[in-house]
Amino acid sequence: MGKIKAVMVSSFLAAGVLFISATFSANTEFKNLKVLPKNIPEKKLDSIMLSFNHALKVNCDFCHVKKNSPFVLSQEKDSLDYAADGQMKENARKMISMMMDINKNYFYFDKNIEPAYLNAVSCNTCHRGNPFPLGE
Ligand code: HEC
Ligand code: HEC
Repeated sequence: MGKIKAVMVSSFLAAGVLFISATFSANTEFKNLKVLPKNIPEKKLDSIMLSFNHALKVNCDFCHVKKNSPFVLSQEKDSLDYAADGQMKENARKMISMMMDINKNYFYFDKNIEPAYLNAVSCNTCHRGNPFPLGE
């Protein structure tokens, strides 16, 4: 193989590697998913989180803790650290797993859907706008 040809081939390879890693990193921006699929598209995660707000009639800060590192800029002090864990987020993880088990075991009619995204039974099936269905 000529020298120029070899250079061309290797730059095509390099471009390919860059392209592939860019494609994959687009989906790895979430750092701490333990029950939802790690490759979940951002839009899907957003709509699931919003559905939690609606089903429980709460805001994001019901489950997510604030950024409180001393290195956080003061104007960002009130913003939430979505990747950080807290007690309510852990409670919610158990609820998500329970819901996924119910849907996968009893409502898996459409095999084209990723089991985690089945929604025959949803948070709202039980919660109906109440974070504590059994009473606080
Ligand atoms: C009922 C509790 C609850 C509410 C309300 C909630 N979340 Fe979440 N959120 C979770 C749980 C639990 C996880 C982790 C899921 C997992 O481990 O797979 C999570 C994960 C996330 C992540 C991924 C963080 C990472 O990098 O791992 C983002 C971003 C996020 N939530 C944003 C939001 C936003 C924005 C709202 C409000 C619109 C919201 N959440 C409301 C429970 C909640
Ligand atoms: C099969 C019914 C059912 C489904 C489905 C369900 N929950 Fe719950 N959830 C409950 C009950 C009942 C309680 C109250 C438990 C208690 O009072 O200790 C509860 C409590 C909670 C709490 C309060 C924390 C706690 O442990 O007391 C959170 C947060 C929560 N659920 C989030 C969710 C989210 C998010 C979903 C959807 C992914 C969901 N739940 C789906 C029945 C359900």
